Amino acid sequence: MDPLNRVTVVAPVNIAVIKYWGKRDEKLILPINDSVSITLDTSIMRAKTTVCSQPDFSENQLWLNGIKTSFTNPRLLNCLEKIKHLAADQQSVDPAVLSWKIHICSENNFPTAAGLASSAAGYACLVIALAKHYKIKTDLSILARIGSGSACRSVFGGFVRWHAGVESDGSDSRATQIADSSHWPEMRALILVVSDNKKHTSSTIGMMNAVKTSDLIKYRAEYCVPKRTDKMCEAILKKDFVKFAELTMKDSNQLHAICLDTYPPCVYMTDVSHKVVEMVHAYNDMCGEIKVAYTFDAGPNACLYLLNADVPRVLTLIKHLFPSSSSDFVTGLGDVEETETEFLKSFPIQPQTEDVIKYVIHTKVGKGPEIETSHLLNEKGYPLNVSE
Ligand code: DP6
Repeated sequence: MDPLNRVTVVAPVNIAVIKYWGKRDEKLILPINDSVSITLDTSIMRAKTTVCSQPDFSENQLWLNGIKTSFTNPRLLNCLEKIKHLAADQQSVDPAVLSWKIHICSENNFPTAAGLASSAAGYACLVIALAKHYKIKTDLSILARIGSGSACRSVFGGFVRWHAGVESDGSDSRATQIADSSHWPEMRALILVVSDNKKHTSSTIGMMNAVKTSDLIKYRAEYCVPKRTDKMCEAILKKDFVKFAELTMKDSNQLHAICLDTYPPCVYMTDVSHKVVEMVHAYNDMCGEIKVAYTFDAGPNACLYLLNADVPRVLTLIKHLFPSSSSDFVTGLGDVEETETEFLKSFPIQPQTEDVIKYVIHTKVGKGPEIETSHLLNEKGYPLNVSE
């Protein structure tokens, strides 16, 4: 038994195929529509968090990616308070433990600034670690949701649905697993990290403005998403890639249409993002069937979903259209050599200038969060790797 009761958790990134965009309650983070996502493999992209507490800690402390950060984020404070309340109600630990200060150390193994859903993995990690530390029993997706909406889906592996719920206290706004990671083993994701220095409006602010000013968002939440979500779950359960891909692309396009319908508009996709969209449609047309789907969140990076068998050709195409000066352009599961390049000759899009895509993360569906024994905090409760 660890004397500090250190708990370390790794949690995954998830990328939605039916998007969450818009809240009906800002404080409880209750969405206006259901959403569906795929949880990605933690061996490639993950957040890792260690928490511990002890009587002689003088203050709550937080380290994020090796940097000491002030313990003032309202969402973090909210999660901690909620978890301690539950622990008190459930009498899950000695009451003295609840008065001890806590140390939290968290890091991502992918650049936070790349805009790759880091809050989802981060909050999922945090609440799972805290819930275990305080030995509470509860729906972890509800707790993660209070940190960041999309985090509730990172609590499960495989294919996940976040039910918007109708209750005003958020008790039915929770995630459930549609199918586990072994259900569709051929599914792959290629994340195209686009070079971009522009600071984009955060998703929290973007969706708040959309709810206030967009007329389209009401139509989306009321009429489009309910039908689309049911069809998406069916496509996933039947492993119908063509349907899955079509719904994924249409939903991403609708999200970004709503962003433009927001006043003032929120522009996340860049010319490079649109070139990726063009590439995917041209490739699908050339194949005579939908082989690849794109989806975009609150930034210019593309996430392509495709099946294993199509990865070599699609990577060949990406490398041809988006030439790179980097020797490790494809990371994660890595590059796959394609010998047949004949199809490139008649491809209707010209290669772009070098390095407009920084790198590609090749990854797959993952099992979800896991407890780890290698901690980020030492036996005294301080970070192993830290810069002040
Ligand atoms: C575009 O979960 O980051 O990625 O709940 O305000 O923290 P908050 O927002 P966040 O929003 C993510 C939006 C999205 C779509 C999605 O993941 O469904």
